[in-house]
Amino acid sequence: EKCNGCGICVKICHEHCLSLSDGELKIEYEFCSTCSQCVAVCPRQAILWDHHPPLRFDRTLYPRPEQVMELFMERRTGREHTGKSIDRSTLKEIAAMAAYAPTHNFNLRTIIIDDVEIIRQIDSVIYRFSMNLYRWLYAPEIMHFVVRAFAPAWESEYLKARPKLEVLRNRQRLFRTMPAAVIMVVGNRRAPLSLQSAQYALYNMDLYAQSMGLACRNLVGNQGILNRNRQFRKLIRLNRKEKIFGTIALGHPAIRFRNKVTGKSLSVQWNNHTTGR
Ligand SMILES: Cc1cc2nc3c(=O)[nH]c(=O)nc-3n(C[C@H](O)[C@H](O)[C@H](O)COP(=O)(O)O)c2cc1C
Ligand code: SF4
Ligand code: SF4
Repeated sequence: EKCNGCGICVKICHEHCLSLSDGELKIEYEFCSTCSQCVAVCPRQAILWDHHPPLRFDRTLYPRPEQVMELFMERRTGREHTGKSIDRSTLKEIAAMAAYAPTHNFNLRTIIIDDVEIIRQIDSVIYRFSMNLYRWLYAPEIMHFVVRAFAPAWESEYLKARPKLEVLRNRQRLFRTMPAAVIMVVGNRRAPLSLQSAQYALYNMDLYAQSMGLACRNLVGNQGILNRNRQFRKLIRLNRKEKIFGTIALGHPAIRFRNKVTGKSLSVQWNNHTTGR
């Protein structure tokens, strides 16, 4: 009854599943992507999200671009934690930021792990896998020659991984210090764009956690090991169709990054000019 039939929501809908007839708004739910732009745009706040009325943005709370830039430049992988725990309401708040990723992909869900035993399992599954890798690919001297002969493009990566694995072997675990919590983004393994959506979700959580002064480590390189480990899947109750698409480890930082690194850049090509500025 709040709707005045202005049609702004119909115009913004990227799935073209909203229509107005005789001043009444109709939605074809089967085509809706759940992007929620119609809710965000309605000047009368006439569309509810799952019965929740929208709130107006307070733009005075927005960070200025230079504040956002400062946050991006400070963003680094935090591997050293103090061991202090993170309270559950904070963890829930961080995980909630995953829902505001631009894909708004609702086949995703989050798993918050603050149980020390499960965090130890994550450590142990990845550690044991890494040690098997070391045993097969590094312990036999001949493997270096095999890689050089048959996969030369991988040789430098192969050599770079050796000292990392040796550090793990000496430490006898993955984490330098145990994180206080791990948050996973899990989704249907066959749904289109799950991975890309999860990347957005992860980065939202990552930056939000950082704005709270927490250290954050992305475990994307290791989560394949967790995905393939049956016992671990069972432990965190993943169903058969699900896959872990993103994993971040959080803790209170034991090391502070003090310096802004300047002069770091990717090369830029303007239009189709490969030379010049
Ligand atoms: C991985 C990925 C793929 C996307 N693919 C499309 C697409 O194919 N077509 C499209 O219109 N928008 C696409 N989007 C954009 C989202 O549909 C759009 O951001 C969403 O409607 C929410 O809008 P908002 O972020 O402006 O609120 C994609 C976004 C991501 C992250
Ligand atoms: S729901 Fe809102 S945006 Fe859509 S037609 Fe009604 S008043 Fe306009
Ligand atoms: S949520 Fe997005 S796709 Fe669904 S009706 Fe609204 S604007 Fe259209």
